[in-house]
Amino acid sequence: MGLRKILTDKEPALHKVCRPVDQFNRRLAKLLDDMTETLAEAEGVGLAAPQVGILRRVVVVDTGEGILELVNPILLEVSGEQVGAEGCLSVPGKYGLVKRPMHAKVRAQDRSGEWFEAEGEGLVARCFCHELDHLDGIVYTQRMERFLTEEEMNALAEGDD
Ligand code: NI
Repeated sequence: MGLRKILTDKEPALHKVCRPVDQFNRRLAKLLDDMTETLAEAEGVGLAAPQVGILRRVVVVDTGEGILELVNPILLEVSGEQVGAEGCLSVPGKYGLVKRPMHAKVRAQDRSGEWFEAEGEGLVARCFCHELDHLDGIVYTQRMERFLTEEEMNALAEGDD
């Protein structure tokens, strides 16, 4: 296990389309382990491989009930709508107002290449969409209505505890 450096959206790696994973080997397992450790250290909700400089379709999401590893994820189904604050470890200290589906279903492979499906509501659905966007080189700031104001950020922080 090892921490990886999280790149900011100034880096070209954050704006490239990632390639699919075709080898389910120890190198992939190590990447997933490192991404999980890096996500926990940064206290984030999700992390995509391009954020640590690896241009492969790999994502880890903290669902609140454990870590979900998504390799070569595909968005299968979305429904509903939510507009809310969204942040990104690659855009430190900022939040934007982003419209996302309320419900999302993804199909992905696990670290050994087995396909499975996962569904999420609310924050998890938002996170699926946000992280899958990263794999296509899209950062939430390209989708947001606007950044949150200082006052809105303070209100958000107070609501956290
Ligand atoms: Ni992000």
